[in-house]
Parts: sequence; C-alpha cells; structure tokens
Amino acid sequence: MEHSSVKRVLSGIQPSGTLHLGNYFGMMRPALELQADHECYYFIADWHALTQLPDPKLLRERVRDVALDFLACGLDPERTVFFRQSDVPEVQELAWILSCICPVGLLERCHSYKDKIARGLAPNQGLFAYPVLMAADILAYGSHLVPVGKDQKQHVEVTRDLAIRFNHQYGGNLLVVPEPMIREEVAVVPGVDGQKMSKSYHNIIELAGEEKPMRKKIMSIKTDSTPVEAPKNPDMCNVFALYKLFATPEETEALRQRYLGGGMGYGEAKQKLFEKYWEHFRRFREQRAELVKTPDHVEQVLKAGALRARAAAGQTLAKIRQAVGLI
Ligand code: ADP
Ligand code: TRP
Repeated sequence: MEHSSVKRVLSGIQPSGTLHLGNYFGMMRPALELQADHECYYFIADWHALTQLPDPKLLRERVRDVALDFLACGLDPERTVFFRQSDVPEVQELAWILSCICPVGLLERCHSYKDKIARGLAPNQGLFAYPVLMAADILAYGSHLVPVGKDQKQHVEVTRDLAIRFNHQYGGNLLVVPEPMIREEVAVVPGVDGQKMSKSYHNIIELAGEEKPMRKKIMSIKTDSTPVEAPKNPDMCNVFALYKLFATPEETEALRQRYLGGGMGYGEAKQKLFEKYWEHFRRFREQRAELVKTPDHVEQVLKAGALRARAAAGQTLAKIRQAVGLI
C-alpha cells in the first residue's frame, strides 16, 4: 500500500441529493475498481455542498446517505481512506494559499460556475472559489489520479494549473500535478429525458429505490416514435445507452441486433433494462439495508478515515507552510 510506486487516487462527491446512475457509472464504479491496486482517498464534499445547501439537517442526512451508498457499493474502509471533507481543516488552509496564486480569470472561465449562475443560483464567493477548494482537496493528499465524470475535467485542469504555478513560484516539485481519469464510455450517462442525468435536471434513476416506482421510471424513459415493426437505431436510443452500461458485450450485441432487425418495441428493451438494473443493485440494496441499522459504525468509519487523511494532508501542509514563508 505505502510503496512509492503505488499511485494515489482521490475523488470526492457532493452530498447534494440522492445518488444516481450517472454518479455510479461516471464516478463511483471506476473509483471503487481502483481500490484493488491503488492507494485511494475518497471523501464526501460537504464544504462544497454548503455553496448550495443552507439546511443543516438536510446536509447531515445527505452526508450519511452518501456514506451508506459508498459503503454498500463496496467501498472497503480498511483499504481506502474514506472521510468527510470538513474533518480535514488543513485543506482550507491550502485553499487559501492557492487562492492567493489563482488568477480570477481562471475561475471566471469555469463552465460549472457559469452554468450555475445561468440556472439562477446567486453567485456567492463559495460558488466562485469552488474550483480552488477542489484543487486543495486534490493537492493536499499528493494525488496522482482523479477519477471523475467529464463535467469535472475542467476543475482538474484548474488544479493542474495551480499546482504548476505554485511549483514554479515557490520552486521544486512541492505539489504533485494530478491527471484526471475519465472513462470515455461512461463520460455522460443519459437521464430518463435523454439529457445528461443530473439531480438538477430531475431526470435521475436512483441506485436505491422500491421495485414498482423504479420499474415505472425506467418504463418512462424517452424514446422516439418508431413503430414496433420498424428497425431502430440503437445508437440514438437512451434505453440502449443505459442497457450497455449493465450488460456484457455479448448481451449488448444481441440487443443491438434486435434493434436493427425490427419487430421489437421500446417497451421490451425497457423491460430488459429494468431487469439488468434491478439485478445489478440487488446486493447493494441488501448491504445498505444492513448498514442503515448501524449508524454509529458508519460514523466511526468516517472518523477513522479522517485521522488518516489528516496525517497525509498534514505532511503536505508542513512543506507548503515552509515554502511560502508561514514558518
Ligand atoms: P449531479 O449532476 O447529479 O449534480 P454531481 O455533479 O454531484 O452530479 O456529480 C458527482 C460525480 O458524478 C462527478 O464525478 C460527475 O462527473 C459524475 N456524474 C454525474 N452525473 C453524471 C452523468 N450523467 N454521467 C457521467 N458522470 C456523471
Ligand atoms: N466537484 C466535485 C463534484 O461536484 C466534487 C469534488 C470536490 C471533487 N472535491 C473534489 C471531485 C476533488 C474530485 C476531486 O462532483
């Protein structure tokens, strides 16, 4: 684990709502697969969530829900350092230091900020400085790889830019310049309406849900009006795009042929998708139902993770303080 050739992986997720298939395929699953042969740091970005969630009770509940979801999906807290962002104050200190070398123009160009403002969110300083805090998250732990969905790529680029600037200004290779890790095949998971699946678009398919409503939701996925008998284009279909994520290459090819051959309605494809979905998350649902019964255990996991995270961030900060002249 601690061997220097092992790459350190870090990612975070905001506790801003129920986790969905976009989060799962875009970020969680790739991140969890890396546990086998990397040193992983995964955290719940509660400071980031404060930019949009001024409700203390809801924030606490959502942090707990994300922790449950990750653990039920197979995050192994022995192997992986799993923690709450706000339990590591060193990161805020680094965020301040980075903000002092960050050109305002770099933040003004960030799509995520511009999109949020366009959607009517009040432009608070936290929202604007969000990428600097994200850079501090990544750089505090000396992370090499950052598995995220495509929409976060620009934030990792800002991080790289800040690390390079910092190293240039203060000399040496104090900060590790990280690489984003984006799976192209799951770069954008579509929602039930065909747009990018996102909490903000109200088009999500949750990981956990009751059978009946989840079946109904999957049956409601938007398709075109090609009649049953006619051949259909699988590559233009949201149902097929989601099916591919669950199915083996052989199963995907078989369904592709059914689309191309005609004679299959979208209802049948949706039914197949539901079965895959339901089976895929069976173990997840069982594990989650067990974990819900032991909230203290979940809290202990996060606290123990925070101790390990603080130790790593503390080492980085000692070097940084020295370099910038704070000691
Ligand atoms: P949301 O858009 O629902 O608010 P977040 O922005 O909190 O989701 O995303 C959390 C993580 O999940 C990020 O790494 C993001 O890139 C990934 N992700 C979210 N939605 C999708 C999607 N539809 N396809 C692929 N990855 C996604
Ligand atoms: N901004 C990320 C999101 O909304 C969450 C996040 C915060 C993050 N800090 C991070 C992701 C550091 C990767 C690395 O999804």
